[in-house]
Amino acid sequence: MRTIFLGPPGAGKGTQAAAFVEHFNIPHISTGNMFREAIKAGTVIGLKAKKYKYAGSLVPDDLTIRIVQERLNHVDCASGFLLDGFPRNVAQASALDMILRSHEIKLDGVINFEVQEKKLLNRITGRRVCCHCGATYHQLFNPPAKEEICDKCGSELHQRPDDTLETAQNRIRIYNEQTEPLINYYRSQGLITGVQGDQKIDIVLQDILKAVGKVSEVS
Ligand code: AP5
Ligand code: MG
Ligand code: ZN
Repeated sequence: MRTIFLGPPGAGKGTQAAAFVEHFNIPHISTGNMFREAIKAGTVIGLKAKKYKYAGSLVPDDLTIRIVQERLNHVDCASGFLLDGFPRNVAQASALDMILRSHEIKLDGVINFEVQEKKLLNRITGRRVCCHCGATYHQLFNPPAKEEICDKCGSELHQRPDDTLETAQNRIRIYNEQTEPLINYYRSQGLITGVQGDQKIDIVLQDILKAVGKVSEVS
């Protein structure tokens, strides 16, 4: 299963990715998570990515494409992978096409998360993330059993530094300008399936699983 989750910030890609990769036993390749880990560890990549990420802008393509290319070379990607948050513009999508060609593999499908723009800001500003295991919650829509404590590992929850109102608005603007055109890019390759992301979390997952089932039947 080789899939991309495409969609605006706050659409639910990361939430669904956790269950999706467990279902198919494939690696979850999230460029957002990779940059967060690099920033936390203070690596060279982290130092370069930090200012872009905290401003809600895209990290330069050369750096982003390089980390994805290296990640896709790992042996654990041989039987499939989920790309979450990559590609994010046409240059990244063309680079991915070249990487896949060099491995002689093809994508099975691209899931496009559809959520009304006015709902995204509430989702982003109410998000809470576990500082230890990365599990994602929402203060209202998906709260932990115990306030500000992770259900999975008992660690504290925190707000992502780029989840402020101002930065979130910038991320949505950049999505509209640079990432949304990828819907047509993948539609022209016959790969895109839209999923209504504004439903209960478990219903969205069912729709995604149905969508990829359909994709595998025709490919
Ligand atoms: P990244 O971490 O990828 O952020 P994003 O794309 O902005 O997406 P989010 O993680 O904000 O949203 P999500 O769709 O994962 O939603 P979630 O499931 O958490 O990227 C961050 C930054 O890294 C970028 O701004 C950029 O700087 C850099 N970067 C990353 N990739 C890059 C690239 N390719 N090129 C260049 N730079 C790159 O859900 C959101 C909230 O909603 C949660 O609170 C959740 O609990 C809640 N929720 C989820 N589903 C539902 C539902 N069905 N109903 C109600 N609430 C829900
Ligand atoms: Mg995410
Ligand atoms: Zn946790």
